[in-house]
Amino acid sequence: MGKLRLGVLASGRGSNLQAIMDAAAAGKIDAEVVVVVSDCNEAYALERARQRGIPAEFVNPESFGSKGEYEELIVGLLNRHGAELVCLAGYMRVVGAVMLNAFPDKILNIHPALLPAFQGLHGQEQAWRYGVKFSGCTVHFVDEGIDTGPIIIQAVVPVLDDDTADTLAARILEQEHVIYPEAIQRFAEGRLKIEGRKVFTVNK
Ligand code: GRF
Repeated sequence: MGKLRLGVLASGRGSNLQAIMDAAAAGKIDAEVVVVVSDCNEAYALERARQRGIPAEFVNPESFGSKGEYEELIVGLLNRHGAELVCLAGYMRVVGAVMLNAFPDKILNIHPALLPAFQGLHGQEQAWRYGVKFSGCTVHFVDEGIDTGPIIIQAVVPVLDDDTADTLAARILEQEHVIYPEAIQRFAEGRLKIEGRKVFTVNK
């Protein structure tokens, strides 16, 4: 069986991309990153991909008249590289109808909080400010909402009394790097079944 071909969209430092590429290189997941796309030319994620010899493309959203046209180009890139699953990894834009229709139930995202709590930006800091005792991270399918799609895996992380938003974020990030490759592997194995809001991991 061939490896699952991943297209990764990232806007920033790309540590989740790195975790996915590392897991792939180590043979821990039956998947390979075939293209990385960023809406930000300075994204270090692009550099990380290039260091691995993986095609890395900057697509400037401002060059397009509409979000739809911007996404058409990205979908074209993903298809040209044969991407079968799209992984958002710190991609700072809301996915629109063009991408959702092109990759139905084939777009994953990682969020740095236990959804549905603390959706949107800075989930770690939101949790820390709120005073919860546990937070964590979530890998979910992407739908038309912001951080609202069906949940695949969550990891729980304690919030310590002497945490800052940054130390909490670092503890959460370690778990992101564990559960994102794990979710990809379950997808690659064809084990994820979506029933309404629920995602079940079935044994094959
Ligand atoms: C991560 O915290 C992720 O959960 C969120 O954006 C951040 C991306 O970090 N969606 P990185 O670019 O993968 O290092």
